[in-house]
Amino acid sequence: MAFKRKPEPFKIKMVEPLKTTTREHRERALKEAGYNPFLLKSEDVYIDLLTDSGTGAMSDYQWAGLMLGDEAYAGSRNYYNLVDAVKEIIGYPYVIPTHQGRGAEQVLFPSLIKKKGQYVLGNMHFDTTKAHIELSGGRAVNLITDKAFNTEEYYDWKGNFDLDKLEDFIKKHGRDEIAFILITVTCNSSGGQPVSMENIRGVREIADRYGIRVFMDAARFAENAYFIKKREKGYEDKSIVEIVHEMFSYTEGFTMSAKKDAIVNIGGILGIKEDVELFNECRARTVPMEGFITYGGLAGRDMEALARGLREGVDFEYLDYRISQVEYLGERLREGGIPIQYPTGGHAVFVDAKKLLPHIPYYQFPAQVLVNELYLESGIRAVEIGSFLLGRDPETGEQLESPLELVRLTIPRRVYTNDHMDVVADAFISIKDRAPYLKGLEFVYEPKVLRHFTARLRPVE
Ligand code: F0G
Repeated sequence: MAFKRKPEPFKIKMVEPLKTTTREHRERALKEAGYNPFLLKSEDVYIDLLTDSGTGAMSDYQWAGLMLGDEAYAGSRNYYNLVDAVKEIIGYPYVIPTHQGRGAEQVLFPSLIKKKGQYVLGNMHFDTTKAHIELSGGRAVNLITDKAFNTEEYYDWKGNFDLDKLEDFIKKHGRDEIAFILITVTCNSSGGQPVSMENIRGVREIADRYGIRVFMDAARFAENAYFIKKREKGYEDKSIVEIVHEMFSYTEGFTMSAKKDAIVNIGGILGIKEDVELFNECRARTVPMEGFITYGGLAGRDMEALARGLREGVDFEYLDYRISQVEYLGERLREGGIPIQYPTGGHAVFVDAKKLLPHIPYYQFPAQVLVNELYLESGIRAVEIGSFLLGRDPETGEQLESPLELVRLTIPRRVYTNDHMDVVADAFISIKDRAPYLKGLEFVYEPKVLRHFTARLRPVE
């Protein structure tokens, strides 16, 4: 049966022209960027699927909110509007705005990691999250279900914790060595894959048994709630907000990059359910790190757009269209014989480069090779999630081998049409036949930290 696309539940009243380029132009641009599309100028990109973060299109209602921005240093009206939106959508009363998700991480984590070397247990931590855990003296551990690593096999919940692994880890190391548990919804690193309510509840039960705290990395909380409504028994008749409330009832606080599901170009939130002492401690840290406690690095107008975006992001019609667009791209690729993380997740389609380029070893970065070829083919920018991102063992300096070599085609919210998705699918399908002839990459310049963003590469001779 043909895939049924959900139409856009909006009309387009402002546009930004896109530029197409010639293959020669792209060859030159990619070479100048050191074969690392992070270093391309965005004007040399036709369809930009680097990230869904801060790249969404705000609504007329959000833009109108910018004009109502109350730019007070302290106690801005828009801060209180934001607090009301968080109370309404998430159900938490204690709210600290931050400049983006990692701002919330840097304010919260030092309060939770009590001694050096404590573990922070996650399904799969995002890279800045891992970095902030380490900067606070902690160690990041991923305890995701093994089903996440089998890209071909269908499973509804490839973001779930492996609850046995979680409990075994706690038993082995003892509760004093665990700083907290962080549930990332949806799980970005495994493919924007959802975590079921049953699994969130299961994490809470284990945590209660050992007296461990549980927090949420809530960047894509609404997309996760959508999957629960669609896939989990007992939730089909609940509203997205009811599901969100239940999800957050099992955690004690959250960090949120609002640049994703809250559809703003900049912003983040730290939310706390009831621990006033923790809230006060975090507020004290916000002042030197982010800004005064009622703006946290944001302008008053940004907080208004964020308050409005939080409500729009949980609208069922919008989520239905949004996830259907991602699924549409996934289906087109699958029909064309391109291996992907299946089923598709919330914000992106992840192409399995290991399967397409089995002749390129992990240390020559097969997914990065594919990202570059996609750019050369059609001016589409994607991002590598594999060994190039993973980096080296900090102790031995050896290149680590990632369990998956993926190309992430990340879809901004309300920005591209399904015709754009067809361009992406067609480009990928036309690369497929020449995949066996593509060459691996080696470093020309490799920075010591976070090399993914600024490294320069060249094709291996
Ligand atoms: N947590 C998750 C799950 C994320 O995906 C991100 C960012 C962050 C935290 C950090 O938030 O960027 O607002 O500081 N992810 C972006 C991405 C950058 O492309 O996936 P931030």
